[in-house]
Amino acid sequence: TLPVDNVQALASTLSDSDHIPTRYIRPEAGSEPIIIPGDTEDDVIPVIDFHKLLDPELSDAESSKLDLACQNWGFFQLINHDVPEEVIQRIMFVIEEFFKLPLDEKMLFKQPPGQLEGYGQMFIFSEEQKLDWADILFFNTLPLHVRKIGLWPTNPSTFRDALDEYSMEVKKLTNCLLGFMAKNLGLDPAEMATMLENGAQRVRINCYPPCPEDKKVLGLSPHTDASFLTLVLQVNDVPGLQIRRNDKWFHVKPLPGAFVANIGDALEILSNGKYKSIEHRAVTNAENERFSIAAFHGPNTDATIGPHPELVLKGEPLYKSVDYESYMKLYFASKLDGKSFLGRMKL
Ligand code: SIN
Ligand code: FE2
Repeated sequence: TLPVDNVQALASTLSDSDHIPTRYIRPEAGSEPIIIPGDTEDDVIPVIDFHKLLDPELSDAESSKLDLACQNWGFFQLINHDVPEEVIQRIMFVIEEFFKLPLDEKMLFKQPPGQLEGYGQMFIFSEEQKLDWADILFFNTLPLHVRKIGLWPTNPSTFRDALDEYSMEVKKLTNCLLGFMAKNLGLDPAEMATMLENGAQRVRINCYPPCPEDKKVLGLSPHTDASFLTLVLQVNDVPGLQIRRNDKWFHVKPLPGAFVANIGDALEILSNGKYKSIEHRAVTNAENERFSIAAFHGPNTDATIGPHPELVLKGEPLYKSVDYESYMKLYFASKLDGKSFLGRMKL
């Protein structure tokens, strides 16, 4: 892996008339059609109300809505999610404080050579590879024994506690959502729960500095997630996430406090294609720094990922089966490139 500039530091030295380094220029960034949702029913990402899912009177209807969102969108927003407001406030605070630190203090937690965990950027495989306009903090947060706590920032001093409690809350919420999804798919929720008992969770905190040539760069290359289910929280109210829909980029403007949830490749595979892992990317903007926090959830590391036998009875399996550990190794050894990773899993 090759060293890359720190993007926050680079951005802070650029004036409006400076050109940014060519390795960040992405001709495709501004050339594809973008849908800015208005207020018609069809161009708003489905909103799922977690309280309704839990309410015996309302659960069936809300659960059907969830099922349709997973099939038709691969994305939904989750409101009334019961992650305590203080937990959200604390993680947002430590993220903003950490990225405000001088570079040398942030670099105390930099990615060790050849590793993705810690403070830095995504993997770079070649000198030609285009670069994303972002710095990241990336951690394997669950199961507990995989945590490399030495790479978790200690400045601000509440960083580790804030990330720990956020990790636990989001995991609990995800397990519950995946239980509803299993039921919707006709699978046994208890079997799903077993698969998630020591489930993997990875957290990626994204910092997208402002870019004077914001229409020419990407904060995050188009990709699908490898996970079962990803929950993304906007840390400040600067939008930037776009999802691929009907061959256009659909701009997501999350409701305040809501999670944006998306199906990852592993759940598309388990559901034998019924639930969709949708390509998405992040754009930057000229004035404002943007932060987001993505929590990726997968099954136990010794689980096998493949189409569930209950879901291929009538048809053919559409994907290979592979153990989750090798599957993740392959994912991280591939550069982010649209749906190409999922494509390699197809039979
Ligand atoms: C992600 O896809 O991991 C995060 C996207 C975002 O920044 O909203
Ligand atoms: Fe993603």
